[in-house]
Amino acid sequence: MSEDRYLNVALPKGRLGEKVYAAFEKAGYPCPEVMENSRKLVFENPDAGVRYFWVKPSDVAIYVERGAADLGAAGKDILLEYAPDVYELVDLGLGKCRMAVAAPENYRDDPERTLRVATKFPNIARNYYADRGRDIDIIRLNGSIELAPVLGLSDVIMDIVETGTTLRENHLAVVDTVLPISARLIANKSGYRFKNREIRRLAAAISEAITAVSMTAAAKTAAATEAKIQL
Ligand code: PRP
Repeated sequence: MSEDRYLNVALPKGRLGEKVYAAFEKAGYPCPEVMENSRKLVFENPDAGVRYFWVKPSDVAIYVERGAADLGAAGKDILLEYAPDVYELVDLGLGKCRMAVAAPENYRDDPERTLRVATKFPNIARNYYADRGRDIDIIRLNGSIELAPVLGLSDVIMDIVETGTTLRENHLAVVDTVLPISARLIANKSGYRFKNREIRRLAAAISEAITAVSMTAAAKTAAATEAKIQL
C-alpha cells in the first residue's frame, strides 16, 4: 500500500471514539489493535488501507483541518464552536446529547441585568445570546462547569447535557435547549479531492453500518414494547 493512499483517521479518545471505531470496523475498516489498551497512538491496517490515531476529542477538528488526518469524528458542539474549515460528511448519530442553558433550580432571571454565563463554548454562547439581544458576560471555563452557578461565579451555564445526572446532582435545571448534538464524520478539504473515491466509499459504508445498527436498535425497542404490551 503506497503511503499516500492510506486513509488517515483521527478518532476521539474515550467512549465515543470506541463507538466510532466500531462503526469503522463494521464498515470494513478493521484494525483490532486500536482497541488494545496501550499508550500507542497510531495503528494501521495496510490491507484495509487505513491508519487510525487517538487524539483528544476537542483536537480532532484541528488534525483534520490541517490535513494531519484525512478524516475524523467530531461532535457538532466542537464544529460549531471552532468552525474548522472541513467537510461534514455523515451524521454518525453517536454521542447524542444536547447543548443547553441551565441554572440553579430556584433561579429567576432579571432581563435588565447582564447575564453571567459560564461555558466551555464561548462562541456558541455569544451567538445564542446575540440572537436574543441579551447582554452577557462570558466566563470561560475548561471543565466542571456546573460548579460555577453553585459557587456564585455565574448566573447560568451553557454546557452539554447527556443524561442530566450532573445537573440533577448539583441542583441545576435546564432553562433552554440550544441544539441537539451528535458526532459527525468530517474530512479534510484537499484530502477529499485527492482521495475522493476512497473517502466516498468509506463514507457510504459508514452510513450503511450506522443505519444497520440503528435499525437493529429500533427493532429491539419495538420488540420489547410489543412484549410489554402482551404481558
Ligand atoms: C460533560 C459536560 C457535563 C456532563 C454532562 O462533562 O460538560 O458536565 O458531561 O453529562 P450528564 O448529563 O450525563 O451528567 P465531562 O464529563 O466531559 O467533564 P468536564 O466537567 O471536565 O467537562
